Amino acid sequence: MDSDARHGATVSGPTSGGERGSGAELAVALALLGTVAGGIGLVVVYLRGGQPQLEGLFLGGALVGLAFALGLWAHHFLPGGDAVEPRHQLASSEVERRSFVERFEGGERELTRRGLLVKLLGLGVAALGAAALFPLRSLGPRPGRSLRTTAWGRGKRLVTEDGTPVRAADVPVDAVLTVFPEGSTLQDRADSQTLLIGVRPGCLRPAPGREDWAPGGLVAYSKVCTHAGCPVGLYEAAKHRLVCPCHQSLFDVLDGAKPIFGPADRPLPQLPLEVGSDGYLRARGDFPDPVGPPSWEVP
Ligand code: FES
Repeated sequence: MDSDARHGATVSGPTSGGERGSGAELAVALALLGTVAGGIGLVVVYLRGGQPQLEGLFLGGALVGLAFALGLWAHHFLPGGDAVEPRHQLASSEVERRSFVERFEGGERELTRRGLLVKLLGLGVAALGAAALFPLRSLGPRPGRSLRTTAWGRGKRLVTEDGTPVRAADVPVDAVLTVFPEGSTLQDRADSQTLLIGVRPGCLRPAPGREDWAPGGLVAYSKVCTHAGCPVGLYEAAKHRLVCPCHQSLFDVLDGAKPIFGPADRPLPQLPLEVGSDGYLRARGDFPDPVGPPSWEVP
């Protein structure tokens, strides 16, 4: 019985720097290089304008390489199992001392190679992290106050969809017309679209301070529903109600377009109007309140 067996020493530890260990190290290094290449490829493709299939390929390759490297690392280089060493004899024998010195010196070479693998691991994670940061640029500029303003402004004439200015005298009672700010672009029109409604003068119940916002009974409200942004396209002239077709919210035209039924909980913003000396309808300014659903106001 040799001395190791006699003392019952059972020590598990990292694989020694043999042929098998070197092969595993090479495999880990190659897998990590694959991760680095995948991360760099992802960045390059993104900077060149992006291509979803290629980006997916590079991202998948980088993650598979990283997973493969970590799996091999755990399997080959981390200590496993239990270590049992009865303490019958505390002093090491000559054989044990020689064996330790051999293993320690071999291990130093391993430690050097492990250092390289650790650096490669860091490089792979850094390349992937850098690639993950680039999509932040795709979020675009901050909206600023753009969600609180529209293309309406003081003196802007009301025009129909084909750009024809609207004369106050041409809008009869009970008529409803979709109007836009003169000179607005297609993009502006999304949140500037407005309903111009003719009601019998004296029927409106304007809020204090808004008594002169609807000259001759011509009142204008945002067409964008304050519930979820659908166009409020239906007008029940007999009841002076606007109806949103999406979830059936009803707005009282005579009472500042306040919601009287349905999920909308905010009035349609009112556009202050005036009649110019040329007889055309003009805005006195922008909507005083944000248009659309509350979520649009979150910057
Ligand atoms: S979007 Fe108008 S009621 Fe829902």
